[in-house]
Amino acid sequence: TPALWVTEWSDVRDWWPRTGASSEKYRRGVVGVATGSRTYPGAGVLSVGGALAGPTGLVRYAGGARGEVVRQHPSVIATDRVAGAGRVQTWVCGSGLGTDDQAGAELRAVLAAPVPVVLDADALTLLVDGSLADRLRHREAPIVVTPHDREFRRLCGEEPGADRVAAALRLAAWMNATVLLKGDRTVVGTPDGRAYVNPTGSPALATGGTGDVLAGLLGALLAAGLAPERAAVVAAYLHGLAGREAARGGPVTAPDVVAALRPVVAPLL
Ligand code: APR
Ligand code: MG
Repeated sequence: TPALWVTEWSDVRDWWPRTGASSEKYRRGVVGVATGSRTYPGAGVLSVGGALAGPTGLVRYAGGARGEVVRQHPSVIATDRVAGAGRVQTWVCGSGLGTDDQAGAELRAVLAAPVPVVLDADALTLLVDGSLADRLRHREAPIVVTPHDREFRRLCGEEPGADRVAAALRLAAWMNATVLLKGDRTVVGTPDGRAYVNPTGSPALATGGTGDVLAGLLGALLAAGLAPERAAVVAAYLHGLAGREAARGGPVTAPDVVAALRPVVAPLL
């Protein structure tokens, strides 16, 4: 791979997990979703929606929006706490989680699990407030962080600036994590210095909750066994296509992006 790569559909097709005819749900991946709260139930619903749009075998939800999540997604198994969710192969944590003590405890439970994690939104705030960001360097299982520009600034103490590739790589090296820096040209950077630019997307995605959908989809791809950088690159590409697809029907809301992921993903199945 060259130092900087612009993702193509053929990459997505090549990297999409092959689950095979004989696959059962545990091979397709169990995604744990620790997002949402009583205050922000929609974030739970949207990130679970993103997770269900992947090649997912089972989604477990742990958090304060159980009632709403199960009403909207009856296939999900829900608990109040991360510790109560078994056989999770990847955790998605942060969107709409809040930043109170319980949110902090749930984040620590997620980080203690020996599986890949996606950290978004409030999880990133909690990392900074708890001075955890630089202590995660030695976590063995992969971490993918998905900051937008303000979240990036909070983590790094400075703006991404004009060179977004360099910015993503800087954060990736410092945290020893894969960084998906969101924006109109989303960039993925790896701790060992590889970077990808995402060519898909739509200004229509600049609406509340679409980032939560992306985090869920990314978790599903990790749970299905993709390496962190491939999961991040494929999720960003498909999410961008879904944004375009949704925009053809008029003004876009985040649930429209969840719905649009189905036709976008269909040719890969
Ligand atoms: N072109 C393409 N993609 C875009 C564009 C654009 N112009 N603008 C945003 N996006 C994409 C990003 O790449 C990302 O995937 O939309 C998604 C937005 O994700 P977030 O920034 O995480 O937004 P989200 O959390 O869903 O909702 C925004 O959160 O932080 C708060 O104040 C913020 O209320 C706002 C809400
Ligand atoms: Mg967000």
